[in-house]
Amino acid sequence: MTTNSDMVKLWNSDAAQTWWTRPERYDAMIGPLGDRVLAAAALQPGERVLDVGCGAGQLTTQAAAAVGRTGQVVGLDISRELLSVTGRRAAEAGLGHVEVLEADAQAHAFEPSSYDVVISRFGVMFFADPVVAFANLRAATKDGGRLAFVCWQPAPSNEWATVPLFAVAAHVGFPEPPPPGAPGPFAFGDPDRVRQVLTDAGWSEVDVEDVQTTVSPGGARNADEAVAFITEDTFGKMLLANAEPDKREAALAALRTAYEEHNGPDGIRLKAAVWVVTATR
Ligand SMILES: C[S@@+](CC[C@H](N)C(=O)[O-])C[C@H]1O[C@@H](n2cnc3c(N)ncnc32)[C@H](O)[C@@H]1O
Repeated sequence: MTTNSDMVKLWNSDAAQTWWTRPERYDAMIGPLGDRVLAAAALQPGERVLDVGCGAGQLTTQAAAAVGRTGQVVGLDISRELLSVTGRRAAEAGLGHVEVLEADAQAHAFEPSSYDVVISRFGVMFFADPVVAFANLRAATKDGGRLAFVCWQPAPSNEWATVPLFAVAAHVGFPEPPPPGAPGPFAFGDPDRVRQVLTDAGWSEVDVEDVQTTVSPGGARNADEAVAFITEDTFGKMLLANAEPDKREAALAALRTAYEEHNGPDGIRLKAAVWVVTATR
């Protein structure tokens, strides 16, 4: 059976640790894209919501504010470290109607038809078997319930990925490209695949909206902050994984120069392209 054990290891490992030690960096970078999910989900007071791959829980707590105390939001993740941040943030915000659930969205035995809405901010691209995972999430959703999530378009459409990739690769070489559709940030780059996966999983009225925007890497106000962010980030660590010390120095200098070219009045801004995906049970 296909499992997500590699992802469980990854999202509880040092490679992912800035997601829980510096969650504010990711919130600054992708928070505005979470706002697109909230707009698409149109949450109503009293609704029961599942946030898949909730991470450190910014979207979870925003959803909890939207559904109010008569509703409930469950933050689901395979990372114990990240869930502890979500739980802490919800408690600090006095959001007693947030629950955290450590489980694999693909395999967890949810109570059938128990959620009005399933949402996610970049938390659904890591499934070994996406059709099984989305069928499982559909079974957890009430009849007529909604799905709304955001995922990345292919890497070449996302400067936040290509700018560090090319700067680093000039010194340490390119990493082995993953097979198309492999679990990872760009697994849902192909919109036809997104439609096919959701349709095969039983969802209807699938809509894939093209959103072109910019993001700030880790909320960086200057090139030094952007370098500090990417070198501690999961993606940046992967790019630099095999760099010899002297090559690493050269790669970091190139990174800084590359980010400097995107420095403006709002700090470092890089093009980003996402799909905002909605569907109905
Ligand atoms: C890119 S992070 C996004 C985190 C958060 N949604 C945010 O926007 O800050 C992806 C998240 O998905 C979680 N994840 C990956 N595979 C999962 C699975 N099979 N079930 C539940 N969560 C999963 C990871 O642990 C991680 O927290």
